[in-house]
Amino acid sequence: MKKGKKLYEGKAKIVYATNDKSLGIQHFKDSATAFNNKKRATIDGKGILNNRISEHILSNLSQIGIKNHLVKRLNMREQLIKLVEIIPIEFIVRNVATGSLTKRLGIEDGTELRKPLIEFCLKNDELGDPLISKEHIFSFEWASKKEIDKIEGDLHRMNDFMIGMFRGVGIKLIDFKVEFGRLKNTTINEIILADEISPDTCRLWDMKSEKKLDKDRFRQNLGNLIDAYQDVARRLGILHENSNIRPLKFPKPKAVKIKRNK
Ligand code: TMP
Ligand code: ASP
Repeated sequence: MKKGKKLYEGKAKIVYATNDKSLGIQHFKDSATAFNNKKRATIDGKGILNNRISEHILSNLSQIGIKNHLVKRLNMREQLIKLVEIIPIEFIVRNVATGSLTKRLGIEDGTELRKPLIEFCLKNDELGDPLISKEHIFSFEWASKKEIDKIEGDLHRMNDFMIGMFRGVGIKLIDFKVEFGRLKNTTINEIILADEISPDTCRLWDMKSEKKLDKDRFRQNLGNLIDAYQDVARRLGILHENSNIRPLKFPKPKAVKIKRNK
């Protein structure tokens, strides 16, 4: 598969064209942003971990029939993906109240929700991704009723599956955000999950200690983000116990004087 021109660059990923019009290459960067790009940093190795974790979760979701954009992982930072026309909505699923939900409605942080709550936000950085209702979606024709019904079904199935997958390794799935898209350059008229699923896009708390194992470590200046992401990857069986995915940094070579024997 030949890597072509850059099609799109987001805050944490780049998508390149390939010689097949229906496929792209998604590259995971090490950049971390929060609060609509106001807070920024580069965190060595984050892209590699997200590539691996997302590959693991999306392949598992495929196995339970949640169609998604992943074709295969190509290398440490890249995946081959199906290209889609993205639906301009961020779908958020919450099991426990935290983050913007607690701020917006004054709900106590950590409140268990009686059933999963789905929220819709318009994908628009300039407006700060505002919360919208289904009525807005239909009124402005961002997606049809049939599409939203299908997506909501997928979201509930994904949530059930992911709650179980994480619970099995001692992690509580608090919430997550995903995007969907319509397949491009094919004759198949289908909506698929078209996003990464990683500690950048989920909230994950250790079941016993409630330690945050996700991007809130960056958002809230808690530190040790890579250690937390590695912990998630190890527990999911992606990393070996002793492996360290942080790229090795070698000191610059020093010039040495060689004494010649006269
Ligand atoms: P929130 O509580 O800040 O609205 O976040 C809800 C979930 O969505 C949480 O798992 C983090 C994720 N998220 C993203 O993936 N991208 C974003 O831009 C934002 C704001 C949240
Ligand atoms: N990714 C988002 C941004 O930079 C925010 C977040 O994940 O909290 O705007």
